[in-house]
Amino acid sequence: MTPGLENTIVDHDAYRRNVAHLHELGVVLPKISELADPVGQLSSKMHMVADVDPDVADPRNLFRVHWHNSRDRKTLSAVPEHLVLGEDLTGVKARIVIALGNRFPMINCHKVLAAYGCLIPRLISGVFDAPRHRAVWPSTGNYCRGGVAIANLLGCRSVAVLPEGMSQERFDWLNSWLADPNDIYRTPGTESNVKEIYDACHDLARSSENLILNQFAEYGNYIIHRSVTGPAMERIFRHLDQSKNLKARAFIAATGSAGTIAAGDHLKASLGTQIGVIEALECPTLLYNGYGEHNIQGIGDKHVPLIHNVMNADFVIGVSDRASDGLNLVFNTAAGRKFLSNCRGIGQHSISDLGDLGLSSLANVIGAIKYAKYMDLGPDDVVMTVATDGADLYRTELGIAEREYHVDGLDTARAAEIFGRAILGAATDNMIEMNRRDRERVFNLGYYTWVEQQGITLADFDRRREQAFWDGLLDLGPVWDGMIEAFNRESEG
Ligand SMILES: Cc1ncc(COP(=O)(O)O)c(C=O)c1O
Repeated sequence: MTPGLENTIVDHDAYRRNVAHLHELGVVLPKISELADPVGQLSSKMHMVADVDPDVADPRNLFRVHWHNSRDRKTLSAVPEHLVLGEDLTGVKARIVIALGNRFPMINCHKVLAAYGCLIPRLISGVFDAPRHRAVWPSTGNYCRGGVAIANLLGCRSVAVLPEGMSQERFDWLNSWLADPNDIYRTPGTESNVKEIYDACHDLARSSENLILNQFAEYGNYIIHRSVTGPAMERIFRHLDQSKNLKARAFIAATGSAGTIAAGDHLKASLGTQIGVIEALECPTLLYNGYGEHNIQGIGDKHVPLIHNVMNADFVIGVSDRASDGLNLVFNTAAGRKFLSNCRGIGQHSISDLGDLGLSSLANVIGAIKYAKYMDLGPDDVVMTVATDGADLYRTELGIAEREYHVDGLDTARAAEIFGRAILGAATDNMIEMNRRDRERVFNLGYYTWVEQQGITLADFDRRREQAFWDGLLDLGPVWDGMIEAFNRESEG
C-alpha cells in the first residue's frame, strides 16, 4: 500500500493505542466531508466549540479547520470569508476574488488543513503511533506550524523542519508552541532550499520514533484541498454569481507543496475554470527549469512536488518577489495606505482588508492580474485565488523591503512608483499557456527529484500522468470518513 494512501488499519496495536490516547484527551476527529461543508454538517456541533479560543491548543479547534470561519474565527460564516478586488486596486476589469486563509485557527493560515490531511490517514490506520512517534513536518514555515498545532491538539510530539532564513514571526510562533526548542530543526538557506530539508528528513528518518509527513509527497494534502478548498471556492463563486451571469475563468495559486492548487482540479470539473500556477520569477522552475533565491515565502521550491497534477495545469505565471515585497510595503504602511486612499480613491475599509494578504497572497493577486490581462477579461469574469496567510506574519519583512527599495520611510511618490510597477505595470511577460509539450516538460522534470533522489518507483511516478489517477484519489475521502467514524465511536465509547 502506498504510504499515505492507507484504506484500512495497518497496525492494530498502534491503532488501539491511538484510540486510548485520544479517548483520554477527549478528542473527536472531524470528517473530511464535515470540513468540506461545515455549514451543512457542523452547525449542530458548533455550540461545543463556541467558547473555545481559536488560538489555543484545545482539540475542539479541529472543528475549525475549514474555510467557513467568520472574521472573529469563532463562529461559522455562511460563505467563506473573501475579498473581491475591483479595478481601482487591480487596474483590470475582471473581479479578482481571494479567499482568506488567516481565518483558520491557531496559525492564521490554511496550512492546518494540509497538516490534518497528511496526518489523519496515518493516525486512523495505526501507521502513526500517537503516544510513541514524533511527527516530522518538513516545510518552509507554515506547514510545520500547522503540523505542530494539529499534533498538539492530539497530544503528540512534533519536529518542525524549516530553513533558517524564514520570517522571524514563524520562529516566534514555533517557540511558543513547542515545549522543547530542540524540536525546531533549522536547515541551511531560505525559501527554495528544499533539497536541504529533504536531507534533514533522511537524517531524522533513521530514528524509528520519527514519522516524516512530507507535504510535497503526501496525497492526503492533494485530497483534502481538492475535497475541502475546492468546494469552498466554488461556494464563494456561486454566492457572488447569483444570476449575475458571472463566468469563473480561472483558479490561480502560487505553489509550494502544490496542495492548494488541487482546488483547481475541483473547480475545473465543476465550473470549467482554467488552472494557473504561479511561481517566483527569481526561481522559475516550472517556467524555465530555473533556480534561484526569492522571498515569496511558502512557494517555489526548485522542484515539482509529487502531488502536483501538472498535466492539468493551463498556465504558469511568473511573479517577481520585488513586486510582492513592494506591495507589502504599500499595503501595510501609513504612507502607502495614504497613497491608496488619496490617489486611488480606495475606501478605508477596503484598505484595512489588505492586511489579510501575506506575501504569497500578493503574488497571487499579481498573477491573477497578469492572467486577466492576457485573457483580456471583462467585468463579468472572475479569477479566483487564495490568501494563504495575512500580512501579520511579515511585519519584520517591512524593514527588509524598505532597505531593498532604498526607502527611508515610504512617501506618496515612492508608493505610487511601487504600485505603478507592481500592479498597473504588470505585463503578460514570463507566463506560459501550457500545451501538451509544456506539460510533459514540467512533468518529466519531477523525475529527477522523485525517482532518482527520493526512491519513488518509475511506475508510481508515471501513473500520475493520467487524470484518472488523480480523480481516483478522491475515492479515499469517503473511505477515510468511514474510518474516522469508526475511530471516534471507539474512542468515545
Ligand atoms: C504563505 C504560503 N503561501 C503559499 C503556500 C503554497 O501552498 P501549497 O503548499 O498548498 O502549494 C504556502 C505553503 O506552505 C505558504 O506557506
